[in-house]
Amino acid sequence: MLTNPLTKNIGPQNTAIDLAGYRAAAGYSGWRKALASDPGDLVKTVQNAGLRGRGGAGFNTGLKWSFVPRGEGSPAVKYLVCNADEMEPGTFKDRLLMERDPHLLIEGMAIAAYAIEARTAYIFIRGEYHTATARLEKAIAEAREEGLLGENILGSGYSLEIHLHRSAGNYICGEETALLNALEGKRAIPRAKPPFPQVSGLWGKPTVVNNVETFCNIPHLIDLGVDWYKSLGRGEDAGTKLFGVSGKVKNPGTWELPMGTPIREIIEVHAGGMRDGLKLKGFLPGGGSTDFLGPEHLDLPMDYDVIGTSGSRMGTGTIIVLDDKTCPVGLVLNLTQFFARESCGWCTPCRDGLPWAVKILQRIENGEGRPEDIGLLREQVRYMGPGNTFCALAPGAAEPIQSALKLFEQDFVEHIEKGCCPYL
Ligand SMILES: Cc1cc2nc3c(=O)[nH]c(=O)nc-3n(C[C@H](O)[C@H](O)[C@H](O)COP(=O)(O)O)c2cc1C
Ligand code: SF4
Repeated sequence: MLTNPLTKNIGPQNTAIDLAGYRAAAGYSGWRKALASDPGDLVKTVQNAGLRGRGGAGFNTGLKWSFVPRGEGSPAVKYLVCNADEMEPGTFKDRLLMERDPHLLIEGMAIAAYAIEARTAYIFIRGEYHTATARLEKAIAEAREEGLLGENILGSGYSLEIHLHRSAGNYICGEETALLNALEGKRAIPRAKPPFPQVSGLWGKPTVVNNVETFCNIPHLIDLGVDWYKSLGRGEDAGTKLFGVSGKVKNPGTWELPMGTPIREIIEVHAGGMRDGLKLKGFLPGGGSTDFLGPEHLDLPMDYDVIGTSGSRMGTGTIIVLDDKTCPVGLVLNLTQFFARESCGWCTPCRDGLPWAVKILQRIENGEGRPEDIGLLREQVRYMGPGNTFCALAPGAAEPIQSALKLFEQDFVEHIEKGCCPYL
């Protein structure tokens, strides 16, 4: 049984599999199957499989597609967009898929576009991803040449073009409505919702935005079916996922593993455990904008709802490890500086609150903190919380700060009492 559908074509060499190699490995058989199916049935299959979006929020992918208006009276023009912005701190999973198996993404997008009846699709790719851009450009050209994209695909009467759009570069461009504004050539600020993009998205037309890894799940799901897909997960969630680990572990990297793989196994087996002489103090389970968890959470399975009810979020599933010799205040300061710089400036708690949080954290880290700074920081974090801003950048930026204040409060206190960073 196939157990590694996302990475089965990825070998040790840093090269992309070409169309001939991809086809020899049963590539595009999901696409052929999809073209012979009813689009509505494809949407239902993806929904029943329980595939949850890999961009961070974990929303059911088929359910998202089902919100696109269909049938008589629905808009003739619809769009599909692949979110390949990947600027979340500590996250490097989509790059691997795009650089090494670009046809898997193209096949997944083609099936998704057909399912929602879109004839134009875009890949919005991070500007620094030069290798991925070049390899995707080549793969799109190869697929067009072979009639797998373009006009009247494989004689089906269905036509689809996929265009690559390089981001001008800003973390906020990854937020799906800011991304749509950027694609339209406007300032990349999020849009007020509702309406949601599935109803009114790119140029006001129904649009589905999904993450790279989400699309890469589709070809095998359609080819091998719902039962196979569900059987891949070890816990509550279906399928496999690219999990990653960065920080001071022996073997940082990214691996395809079943959903529900315990965190301990990811860190201790796949990442090789902590470097000699270091202990794990905490970790961010899914990129920079998630809450810290502690060593007591190591046996949790990486499933969306389990991590969500344990005080954090699965986010991108790429773990950032904090060891006992790295200053948690310095780590949180570094992340907050990034988020403050990337704010689009639309909402006050984000535009003004994040630079203020940076000032306080910098003061504490420099040994110039005041006892009231901890309370001030907690107040700022409350203002940035969910419901106070147009998008999730500020609430996400608040997560490492609020959880560090909970888990590592003593470190903040020590900085203030000693008048210096105790880790120096
Ligand atoms: C500030 C910010 C940055 C984001 N960056 C990305 C990103 O780089 N890639 C991504 O897929 N989703 C990103 N998201 C999530 C997207 O808004 C959206 O939820 C996702 O693309 C949906 O895809 P999925 O349903 O396949 O997960 C970001 C969200 C926020 C608030
Ligand atoms: S939370 Fe920040 S990034 Fe998001 S809309 Fe408001 S100001 Fe812009």
